[in-house]
Amino acid sequence: MARIHSTAATATAIIAGVSAINNGLAVTPPMGWNNWNAFGCDVSEELLLTTSDQILGLGLRDLGYDYVVLDDCWQDVNGRDKNGKLQPELSKFPNGLRSISDHLHSQGFKYGMYSSAGEMTCARFAGSLDHEVDDANSFAEWGVDMLKYDSCYHMGRVGTPSVSFNRFKTMSDALRATGSNILLNLCNWGEDLVHTWGMSISNSWRVTGDIYDSFTRPDDLCGCNQVSPGDVNCIAPGTHCSVLFIVNKVAPFADRSIPGGWSDLDMLEVGQGGMTDEEYKAHFALWAGLKSPLFLGNDLRDMPAKAFTIINNPAIIALSQDPHGRSMTRVRRDTDVAKDEWGVGETHVWAGHLQNGDQAVIMVNFGGQDADMEVSLAEIFIPFGPGGAAPHNKFDWAVHDLWAHRMPESTAESVLAAPSVAERAALLKKANWYNATEIPYAQGLRDEDPRLFGEKVGVVKAGGVLKQKVKSHAATVLRLRRIAKDGEKFKGKSIDRVAKDEL
Ligand SMILES: *[C@@H]1O[C@H](CO)[C@@H](O)[C@H](O)[C@H]1NC(C)=O
Repeated sequence: MARIHSTAATATAIIAGVSAINNGLAVTPPMGWNNWNAFGCDVSEELLLTTSDQILGLGLRDLGYDYVVLDDCWQDVNGRDKNGKLQPELSKFPNGLRSISDHLHSQGFKYGMYSSAGEMTCARFAGSLDHEVDDANSFAEWGVDMLKYDSCYHMGRVGTPSVSFNRFKTMSDALRATGSNILLNLCNWGEDLVHTWGMSISNSWRVTGDIYDSFTRPDDLCGCNQVSPGDVNCIAPGTHCSVLFIVNKVAPFADRSIPGGWSDLDMLEVGQGGMTDEEYKAHFALWAGLKSPLFLGNDLRDMPAKAFTIINNPAIIALSQDPHGRSMTRVRRDTDVAKDEWGVGETHVWAGHLQNGDQAVIMVNFGGQDADMEVSLAEIFIPFGPGGAAPHNKFDWAVHDLWAHRMPESTAESVLAAPSVAERAALLKKANWYNATEIPYAQGLRDEDPRLFGEKVGVVKAGGVLKQKVKSHAATVLRLRRIAKDGEKFKGKSIDRVAKDEL
């Protein structure tokens, strides 16, 4: 009992208090869209504005995806102007960047941009190293709300945590000095133990090389993949990192994420075509439960209906946006599992506390065959005390499947095919879809909005074991809800709502 209440008190302190950077941003993981995964360097005003129309029309802004981020390759190929200022490529951005941010702001979006803490960006345009103040001022003048700040061409200023910290801190300070409140997303791919210092100067920090559209396939370009997947000191982080590699990398320090500062698992690949539907569901749920920033990475103007029904599941997004603001952690990893086509075989159970006392559980099978997975309540509640000491272990828990009310594919097809924004809005309304602009997730969770709680599919008795058959390359995503004991005042409510003396 004491443990439960002290944990709740800690959670309150974190939310009411401060993250180290303390700029009031990213209290829950930021959400939005970034062009890189689908378009790379093929950027333009037209791409950004047609995409923002689409995010709005599909109800995605109102599910929380409110940052529109322009990645690398927006800059003039000739570099800085005569005053040393960055300038956009006018053939791509004929009206300049301020007009884009004005347009996005008028639609209720926030505008994200990109640079690198190097002499060049990764695509070899002018970088911001040693130009931090000038460039921060440009970003502020352009109405930028977020900066993704990469680490290519760093001129050797890397290799120890303090060297990297100071290189990135220069931009963090310059952004703050502009007086505009700009969210800073560091992207140094986990180098120099960024998970130990990123929260001091930024709102999120990338923990691996770039993701690619594969669930488990190892690739040499994702450094250390073959050698030691859990190595936090992995060098040459590179690209081509699978979903499995990324979650293995973050597992030892998943608990470092706090409101205001999050481990960034990279943009989403959902809808890009390289994974199966089940793999994309697992990818999306893991990114939500592990509190990564949730940046869509696909072409939203040409999206399979199934992808739409993954990214718009409010019961999964509610894990990401839960006010408690702590990542799920891995409570179990089994490697004695049938191998898949890449020679990979492992299963994980991730678990995490939620604000209302519920417990999220993701059981994921990275192996080659369907698996009968098991995890005890004692393991699920291990953060509250090992060896079954957690008081939670003494209660029965209802098991809710958070994919149960996924939007039907036919509804998604109608929404995607609807000829006007008004018709789309009418279809979403008819489907009773969630609108977080109307009911913020914190409120929906407090009020037990059924759209956020999936469907009850079973019960685990006190001291018992949760058993699920999990398909190969798939995840089961659950919310455990405490069942009140006979005579309890708040029937069916979560553990934190029950009078203390009844625990
Ligand atoms: C969501 O709710 C807001 C506020 O009521 C409203 O302006 C917006 O149009 C709604 N979104 C959709 C997609 O219906």
